[in-house]
Amino acid sequence: MSTHPAEPFRIKVVEPIHLIQETEREKALQRAGYNIFGLKSDEVFIDLLTDSGTGAMSQDQWGAMMIGDESYAGARSHQRLSAAMEKIFGFRHFVPTHQGRAAENILCAVTLKEGQYVPSNMHFDTTEGNIRARGGRPTNLVINEAFDNKSDHPFKGNMDLKKLEDFIKQIGPENIPLGMITITNNAGGGQPVSLENLRAVSKIYHSHQIPFFIDACRFAENAYFIKLREPGCENKSTLEIAQEIFSLADGATMSAKKDAIVNIGGFLAVNDSALFEKICNELILREGFITYGGLAGRDLDAIAVGLMEGLNEDYLAYRLGQTAYLVNELKKLGIPVIEPAGGHAVYINAGKMLPQIPQAEFPGQALAVEMYRAGGIRAVEMGSVAFAYPDPDSGEMHFPEMELVRMAIPRRTYTQSHMDYVVNVLKNIDAKKESLSGYRIIKEPKLMRHFTATFESVS
Ligand SMILES: Cc1ncc(COP(=O)(O)O)c(C=O)c1O
Repeated sequence: MSTHPAEPFRIKVVEPIHLIQETEREKALQRAGYNIFGLKSDEVFIDLLTDSGTGAMSQDQWGAMMIGDESYAGARSHQRLSAAMEKIFGFRHFVPTHQGRAAENILCAVTLKEGQYVPSNMHFDTTEGNIRARGGRPTNLVINEAFDNKSDHPFKGNMDLKKLEDFIKQIGPENIPLGMITITNNAGGGQPVSLENLRAVSKIYHSHQIPFFIDACRFAENAYFIKLREPGCENKSTLEIAQEIFSLADGATMSAKKDAIVNIGGFLAVNDSALFEKICNELILREGFITYGGLAGRDLDAIAVGLMEGLNEDYLAYRLGQTAYLVNELKKLGIPVIEPAGGHAVYINAGKMLPQIPQAEFPGQALAVEMYRAGGIRAVEMGSVAFAYPDPDSGEMHFPEMELVRMAIPRRTYTQSHMDYVVNVLKNIDAKKESLSGYRIIKEPKLMRHFTATFESVS
C-alpha cells in the first residue's frame, strides 16, 4: 500500500464540503465562462486552485491573533514579526504588505525604469505582470531540465548560470536594475533551487553590481528540499539553511500566504537603507504605515508564528510527502506529471496528455474544465492562457514551453483520502481523454488574462 507520512496534526475545527450534482456543475461552468476562477467556492468539492492563503492555521496562530496589537504605529505585533524576520531572513529592513504582489509592485516602483530587464529562473505571473506594468521586461533563465518531464534533476528550479552570464553581457548590467530568483519555482513545477546554485547566482549578480532579490514564497519547502537532496546539507536544520540562503541576497519579496501559512499577508525586505526610504514612501502611499503595511496587527502575529511553523521538519516531511504521493499515484496511471515531485503542487502536462489539442486551443484549460466537470475539482491552467504573450517588438505570439495544469495543495487542509479521490477522478478522465477538445477565448483583459478571461469550446 502506498501512503505518505501521517498528518502531524489532529483536526479540531472542520469545514464541511459537498459535491454538487454533475448537471449543476455544468451550469456553473457555463455561468463562469469556462473559467474556473468564476466558480463559487460552494460549487467546488476539492479546491486545488491555489495553496495561497488557503492553508489551515494552527491553534498557536489563532492564539497569537488574540493578542494582536492594533496600534497604528509601533505595535507589539510588529515587534514580534520583526523578531521572527530577524531570526530567519536577517535583512536590515522590512515592511509588511497585504500580499506578495504588493511587495512586487513596490519593488518595481522603486527600482525599475521602462525598457529595463529583470532576469530570474522563472518569474511567477504576478511578478511578470508587475514588471511589465512598469514597462520592464521579465526574462526567464531556468536550466533546460526544467522543461524535461523525464529528467530527475534534483534541483530543476536552478538558474542556468551560463545563460545568466551571457544575458548580462548581452543586455549590459546598466540595463538590469535587479536580478531575482524564485524559490521554489512555482511557474516551473514548484521545483527547488540548490544552495550551490543560489551561491553562484549571488556571485554573478554581485560581480556586476546587480542587487539580488529572492522571491521567497516557498523558502521553507525549498530549504527542506536542500536538506533532503543536497550533499553536505543533511545535518543542517531548515532554519540554518534558510538563514544561509538569505545571507546571499540583498532583499526578498514574500507572499506570507504560502510558507507562513496565513490567510493574508506578505513583506518586502531589503538591506539598502536608501532604497528602504523609497519603499516606505511608496508603502505609505499605497498600503499603510510602515509598521502594519495594509494588515491588521493580528495578521502580523499570525505571520510571526507561521513563519517558524512553516520551517518545522515534521510538518515539511508530511507536506512534501503528500505532494509526492499524488505524483506517484498519477504516474502509476501513466498520466504525465512533472517529476520529481515539487513542493506545493502537482503539475500535469496537459499538452502531453491531450496531444490532439493545439497550444492555441489551450489543452490545459480543457483539462482544468474537465476536472471540475468530472469531479468538482478545481485546478488551474498554467500554460498558454496564463503565460502566452505578444512580443513587445514584433507582436508575434510567444507560447510557453509546457501546457500545464497545476493542482496546488493547501497546507494542512486535505487528507490522504481527498488525494485518493483526486486520483480516481483523473483516472476516469484519462480513460476518455481522446474525446476532449480545446477552447477559444471570447473576452480577455490586457494583463493577467487567466483570472478573468471567458471561453467557449471549439467543438
Ligand atoms: C512564486 C510566487 N511569487 C509571488 C506570488 C504572489 O503572491 P500573492 O498572491 O500573495 O500576491 C505568488 C503567488 O502565488 C507566487 O507563487
